[in-house]
Amino acid sequence: MNGLSKILTLRVNGLILATFLILYQGYAQINNATQLPDRIILNLTTEPTTSVGITWRTDTIVHGSFCEWQLSTDTKIKPEESSSAKVAAKTVSYSFKDEPKVVANQFSYILNGLKPGTKYIYRVGAASIWSEWFEFKTAGLSNEPYSFLYFGDPQIGLKSEWPRVLRKSYQQCPDCRFMLYAGDLINRAGRDIEWDEWFKTGSWLCATVPQIMTPGNHDYSGKQLDPHWNNQFTQPTNGPKGLEGSCFFIDYPNLRLISIDSAADSELANEKGYPLEAQKGWLDSVLATNHAKWVVVTTHLPFYSTKDTRDNPHLRRNFQPILEKYHVDLVLTGHDHSYGRGRASDNPLIKPSIVYVVSVSGPKLYPSGTKTWMERSGGNLQLFQVISIQDNSLSYKSYTANGTLFDAFRINRKKNGKKKFVPLF
Ligand SMILES: [Fe+2]
Repeated sequence: MNGLSKILTLRVNGLILATFLILYQGYAQINNATQLPDRIILNLTTEPTTSVGITWRTDTIVHGSFCEWQLSTDTKIKPEESSSAKVAAKTVSYSFKDEPKVVANQFSYILNGLKPGTKYIYRVGAASIWSEWFEFKTAGLSNEPYSFLYFGDPQIGLKSEWPRVLRKSYQQCPDCRFMLYAGDLINRAGRDIEWDEWFKTGSWLCATVPQIMTPGNHDYSGKQLDPHWNNQFTQPTNGPKGLEGSCFFIDYPNLRLISIDSAADSELANEKGYPLEAQKGWLDSVLATNHAKWVVVTTHLPFYSTKDTRDNPHLRRNFQPILEKYHVDLVLTGHDHSYGRGRASDNPLIKPSIVYVVSVSGPKLYPSGTKTWMERSGGNLQLFQVISIQDNSLSYKSYTANGTLFDAFRINRKKNGKKKFVPLF
């Protein structure tokens, strides 16, 4: 081969390589991880006054990633003044039908030893590739009032019609202390591309406001909880064995918040099965030892459905007597894709006091049914809820996607412990 041929061969090879790289970048999966941490999310822990869970993802080149944190500052951040922890990687692999496999490294860290009611900043990363600095605030010790947001199923339209609900909720309550999801966060369990949309919509909000979620039936594939769930969320594990991250309780000031996993074991259809029996005993013990003034339970399936064709009597049969025995205040659910709120009981001998809510935040919407338990109902509406706790008063407000108040009530707790329900709609 003469000199000219060599030069031509090199140029042709270079052209082929360049073309390949351009095509590769053009067709690269948008849900692939990179060295820059993404899907960064805060979760409430069992002790939200002094700790928070942080989870993030990178590609598999990054074996050890760091979390750096310090008290929030008014002035320029000095990274060298941070506390730091190196977090080991857990390599995860997700496949869904014929979609390209996604392999990534997940990192999970619980920041402990924090001061109550205090603002911190943190970042995650390594070497020269770091996330931005995010700020969060720990739960306070006192009776200071606070609010949190509650969403029914996002499920679909995660990057088209759901984002404006999330944005509007934060505009409505920018000081919300946490965001609670009543299940069906995505549509098809295990499908990474849907989680990618969920996280891209949540973006810095997920990394700034602690999130807490109970799984829905769409977060399960058969009897298998989506493996993403406990890889990408760092949720409490104080529930029954085998239901870590899906059945748990959290003590926020003045509030015991409980997640029951009603999607486990194919929607608890097997009433003799372990998930239902284990959760019944656990729920009784968690309520028996409660000292908080307010108790809020969240679970995906409604105790009372909004749809005329739906019902979950096994939930009421097994769990309602326990909720009533301990005077639970509020039950927040999803699943039915319309809105219903009311006080009800299957026990004809008692005056109902538990407020049951069914709501939906995503664009999969149904008309509301005609069931008589509902004191307020609505169909074909994307909604979010702001729930505020101030000592002996619990305030609840439901808003539509454009911020119109749709429903509201208050529960006042008297000195003798009795409650007064005040409807505002
Ligand atoms: Fe559902």
